[in-house]
Amino acid sequence: MKTAIIALATLSVAAATASAVDYASQIVPIFRAKCYECHHTSKKVKGDVDLADDKMPESIGAGKHIVPSEPKKSTMLIYCTLPDDDEDVMPPKGKNRLSPTELKMLETWITEGASLTGGAAPAAAAPTAGGAQKWTSTDGKVIDATFVRLEGDNVVLTVTATGTTYAVPLARLSPESQTQAKAAK
Ligand code: HEC
Repeated sequence: MKTAIIALATLSVAAATASAVDYASQIVPIFRAKCYECHHTSKKVKGDVDLADDKMPESIGAGKHIVPSEPKKSTMLIYCTLPDDDEDVMPPKGKNRLSPTELKMLETWITEGASLTGGAAPAAAAPTAGGAQKWTSTDGKVIDATFVRLEGDNVVLTVTATGTTYAVPLARLSPESQTQAKAAK
């Protein structure tokens, strides 16, 4: 198959189709940094909201704090967007607020269905399962793709969701993914 060097913008589009926001690698770090202190089994569970992975299902569903595909009905997101002085704002009193990027990430994750297992299309169901791995770009985008080969300073990957093969400059990948590419050789 002919491969072309692509700009990361194109890779991001592929990532958006596969799954733009991954729970474990993109949502958990936000909760850990800004919420676990008061909402995790290992510490304190305020307001009966436990964000520990195994307790997350209790917060997700119709009428719960996270309503899949309905960010506007998801009280968890709404509380995080209230003004600093609102008595319901999370985290409380406007301390350690979520950044606009984090809010957008949370919103996108909910819009995509608030999956706890990762992408909209689980890797296990994909034909390339087994060979597929997660790859992270320097700006934090994650895609699910199978390593094909190293080609100079590029790594050739087949994106699981689309079946398209791309050459991605190694420099555009996170250090971990660069190591993964070199190890795959
Ligand atoms: C400093 C402690 C603290 C932090 C940090 C914190 N919360 Fe809370 N949270 C509380 C307390 C206390 C309550 C209970 C408030 C109440 O019942 O009035 C609560 C309640 C909630 C509720 C339920 C509200 C309701 O009406 O049932 C949600 C949802 C929530 N928090 C989400 C979050 C999220 C998401 C984060 C991180 C972005 C967060 N909280 C960070 C202390 C905290």
